[in-house]
Amino acid sequence: GAEGDEQERAPIVTVMGHVDHGKTSLLDYIRRTRVAAGESGGITQHIGAYHVETDNGMVTFLDTPGHAAFTAMRARGAKLTDIVILVVAADDGVMPQTEEAVQHAKAAGVPLVIAVNKIDKEDADPDRVKNELAQRDVIPEEWGGDVQFINVSAKTGEGIDELLEAVLLQSEVLELKAVPSAPGQGVVVESRLDKGRGPVATLLVQTGTLRKGDIVLAGLHYGRIRAMLDENGNPVDEAGPAIPVEILGLDGTPAAGDEFTMVTNEKKAREVALFRQGKYREVKLARQQA
Ligand code: GTP
Ligand code: NA
Ligand code: MG
Repeated sequence: GAEGDEQERAPIVTVMGHVDHGKTSLLDYIRRTRVAAGESGGITQHIGAYHVETDNGMVTFLDTPGHAAFTAMRARGAKLTDIVILVVAADDGVMPQTEEAVQHAKAAGVPLVIAVNKIDKEDADPDRVKNELAQRDVIPEEWGGDVQFINVSAKTGEGIDELLEAVLLQSEVLELKAVPSAPGQGVVVESRLDKGRGPVATLLVQTGTLRKGDIVLAGLHYGRIRAMLDENGNPVDEAGPAIPVEILGLDGTPAAGDEFTMVTNEKKAREVALFRQGKYREVKLARQQA
């Protein structure tokens, strides 16, 4: 039965924090990429989804923007995740979006791990970060609380192994499970209309497995998956629990945060999509033609 097929799954970890505190740089260090350097104006403006094989197992990361304008993305990031890494620059301390991220994590009931970043800087003051967060009810373990604080530098790499260990320890406690043999289901991270390729959606599979050729219903839209790409743009045939993928083949762009599910009947998928779009006449016509 379905229960027997339940398996451990990788943690989904959302990285949040105030603008420029080093979220993307930290992920760049972990992934050995240079995304941050290529961002226009140095500001992240969308949710990036990546899965990374670490020495201690796979982790899926969602990178969120820290700019004040992107509250909705941060709220979504907190809802999609198992753990939040809150990045706080040690030379800057707790700032408005740091506080906001704490609120999102608390509202979503998600545990926090604090990455006290930029520890390489001369004016880094990690004790100040601890004090400021403790005042906001985020109490470090060494002060009798339950939150791990790890000093890191996305520049030198100091503390990053420790941070990953802390995250994996936290995820073990959560005993995360999924059923890989079930139909793929999850959430739309974001979507866009690409000039050449049509609607492109980034999906995060939460349970089951999604395959190329599957029919998916995603928010107001549906379609058969014509191509599936990993976060590096490489073609893949399937995506299991906790894996983010880009898919082509939807008939439109579903909203970020919409749920998606694999369905077996394309006609039914179309009907449900039309119904959700409020096109009741078209639903009726489709049924009459059946
Ligand atoms: P947004 O996504 O726009 O909110 O920013 P971010 O939090 O992703 O920060 P980003 O990675 O873009 O880094 C901001 C700046 O801080 C860049 O110039 C980085 O090179 C620098 N930076 C990040 N981490 C460190 C660090 O550990 N030490 C030092 N010295 N600089 C860092
Ligand atoms: Na930035
Ligand atoms: Mg960023």
